[in-house]
Parts: sequence; C-alpha cells; structure tokens
Amino acid sequence: MDPHGTRIARLEGARLTRTITAGAITAVLVLGGLASLAAHDPIGTKLTWTRDISRVFQARCVECHTPAGRSPMPLTTYEEVVPWTSAIRLQVLTRKMPIWHAARGYGAFANDPSLSPFDIAAITTWIDAGAPRGEGPEVRAGKEASRGADRTPAARLTTVPCAEPSVAGRLLAIRPQLQDGASAGITAVLPDGRREIVAWIRDYDARHDITYWLRAPLTLPRGSRLKVEAPGVCSLTVTLAR
Ligand code: HEC
Repeated sequence: MDPHGTRIARLEGARLTRTITAGAITAVLVLGGLASLAAHDPIGTKLTWTRDISRVFQARCVECHTPAGRSPMPLTTYEEVVPWTSAIRLQVLTRKMPIWHAARGYGAFANDPSLSPFDIAAITTWIDAGAPRGEGPEVRAGKEASRGADRTPAARLTTVPCAEPSVAGRLLAIRPQLQDGASAGITAVLPDGRREIVAWIRDYDARHDITYWLRAPLTLPRGSRLKVEAPGVCSLTVTLAR
C-alpha cells in the first residue's frame, strides 16, 4: 500500500472511532432521557406493542424474521416476540440487529435498516417496562416492499476484483464480498484525483450478503477507480445505471 493510502486509512480509522463514540453518547443521552420520562410519568409515556413497537418490528425486523424467513425465529406477532425480549434488548442496544455492515458516517444508503436512537430507546424502555401488549390490534404489514435490485430494472451489474478496478457510469449500489470478519474501506478516486468515500464495511459475514444502495447515485467519469482496501479475498459487484 502506498504511504498516502496508509495515511488515509489511518485518518479514516480515527474518524470511525469518533463516529462510534459520538453514536454511543447520543444513544446514552436519548436512553437516559426516555428512561427518566418513563420514571416520572408512567401514565403518559407507557409504550405498548400495539401502539408503538409493532410498527418498528414490521418495518425493520420481519423482512427476515418471518416463519419462512432467513432467521432462527419469527418476530411477526406479540406472542412470537415476547419470549425473545431479553435477546432483542441486547441485539438492538449493540446494534447487531437489524443486520447491516456499513459503518455509520461513511456514505448514506437508501436501504439502511438501522434503528434510530429513538427507536432503540423505545424498544428497550418497552422491554424494561415488562413488554406490555396494549389495546387494539397490532400492526401487521402485508408483504414488505422488497428493497434493492428488483426495484431498479434499468441497471447493470458487474463484478470486479478489488485491485482498483476502473469503473465509469452512475454508481447505484455496491455489494462487496470479503473474507469473513474482514473490514473494507471503499473509496472512489475520480480522474482529477478527488476522493469520495463510498462505504466502510465492517465485520463482513458471508451469510448476510448485502447490497448497499447509495442514497444518491455517484457519477464516476471515465477514468475513475474504486479503491477497495481490504485484506485477503475480495471482490466487488457494482450496480450501474444503464
Ligand atoms: C437481514 C435479515 C435480518 C433482519 C432485518 C433482522 N434480523 Fe435478527 N437475525 C437474523 C439472522 C440471520 C439471525 C441469526 C443470527 C445471525 O445470523 O447473526 C438473527 C438473530 C436474531 C436474534 C437472536 C440472537 C440470538 O440471541 O441468538 C434476535 C433477538 C434478533 N435477530 C432480533 C432482531 C430484531 C429485533 C430485528 C429488528 C429490529 C432484527 N432481528 C432484524 C436476520 C435478521
């Protein structure tokens, strides 16, 4: 790796640490705020499954957690969720669920399922209060609109090795394939030398093959390269607009 690249990687590492710290502080502040609200006003702020929580699960969890889904257990109804509340609490607090391997602060993605600090606080506060069901029917979405490839038929996919492939066109999405547990910084190097951070993928897990859809397509003029800094086996599938 050239010394310049090393320096950038180090800088990015430092930024990543700061981003994570800032995120943790925000979560603590929000959690603290909601917890004290709940303690002081038990009537006004009692969160329930039917009114507050089921919509979050429908939006962020049932895509995988259905009886036929690619996860160990369904989380589509109150009865299915209740036995799992302590595991759920841990998974959402540590941001392990919903599964998503792009580090926050690096690029913005249209299909990022991550919970907001507010949703995390709501779920944990609800669980700590004994996970009350509440009145009325729960939110039961129909089939979630599927995100990703099939909503963009006018796209072409190319798989490229990671050794600085040159790519030109409007970049819509990336799907990195790395060694298990590896992290990768993905940067677009434009012909004029400018660099745009596309994503920072952490802790790659081959069982969850994720396509990251850019919130804003990135125009790569002819002569651009996608620099992927990752150890070991690595390939990158890119989706470009036709
Ligand atoms: C992209 C698919 C996907 C989404 C979305 C998802 N999960 Fe999971 N979940 C999994 C898979 C797969 C596992 C099995 C463990 C693994 O592979 O990491 C799992 C495991 C779990 C576990 C069990 C962990 C343990 O103790 O073994 C909990 C709890 C959980 N998910 C909660 C949630 C919640 C809550 C949400 C929504 C906020 C969510 N998941 C969203 C795929 C998903």
